[in-house]
Amino acid sequence: MVERRLDPRAIPRHVAVIMDGNGRWAEARGLSRIEGHRQGLDSVRAVVRAAHELGVGTLTLYAFSLENWNRPKSEVDELMRLLERYVDAELAEVHRNGIRVRTIGRLDRLPASVCEKLVQARALTCDNREMQLVFAVSYGGRAEIVDAAKRLLHDAEVGKVDPEQLDEKTFAAYLYDPEVSDPDLLIRTGGESRVSNFLLWQIAYTEFYVSAVRWPDFRKSHLVEAIVDYQGRERRYGLTGLQVRS
Ligand code: IPE
Ligand code: IPE
Ligand code: MG
Repeated sequence: MVERRLDPRAIPRHVAVIMDGNGRWAEARGLSRIEGHRQGLDSVRAVVRAAHELGVGTLTLYAFSLENWNRPKSEVDELMRLLERYVDAELAEVHRNGIRVRTIGRLDRLPASVCEKLVQARALTCDNREMQLVFAVSYGGRAEIVDAAKRLLHDAEVGKVDPEQLDEKTFAAYLYDPEVSDPDLLIRTGGESRVSNFLLWQIAYTEFYVSAVRWPDFRKSHLVEAIVDYQGRERRYGLTGLQVRS
């Protein structure tokens, strides 16, 4: 069992997941892509529970990208319905487990009912400290940086920020949710080796793990597999291995 190889003292604090492969999962079974998204909801449930059990501090899930708005309307509508359904079905358990829900992305583009559900979920769980569950919805990494730059320019104009003093820490405070630390581990399911506009600023030194497993099949054992792989790596942050080990 893969869990025996897991070091419980070295669980990554923040795991981010690009939940990909729903469409291919469905197509391979002669089903509609939407069926893949529906099945994917079970994986969300399972992985949230698993992350909580394993002691992951923050789990960020890429649920819907800005580019995904360009998919056929019927698929976008179904994805929006599923987001609502997730909140309706899972919020009580999430809250009971002490999990705080956060969101990143351009929520103003979401249908009002979906946006309200997410805002309610955030409000209900805002004092929870067991784990953080961050939903990236209507999210794009470049848009996040542009949105940060806009607010920063505004603050510079009114004298709240001195452009000469601007550094990475000050800039990062303008991102969608500066309270969330950078991911330690980024998992992409579905086998593609690309970032697809996810957390561009935050993944500078994140360890990347690609799983061939398509999201609707992804379960706790696959998450554990990814964490075990992560635990075997040496994070050097530009230093030499000797420096890191000394
Ligand atoms: C991920 O699965 C879900 C979203 C992007 C919302 P896809 O729908 O991208 O599935 P594939 O990549 O086509 O298999
Ligand atoms: C990334 O998957 C977005 C989400 C998982 C929400 P995509 O399927 O949209 O990415 P590409 O098209 O393969 O780059
Ligand atoms: Mg995809």
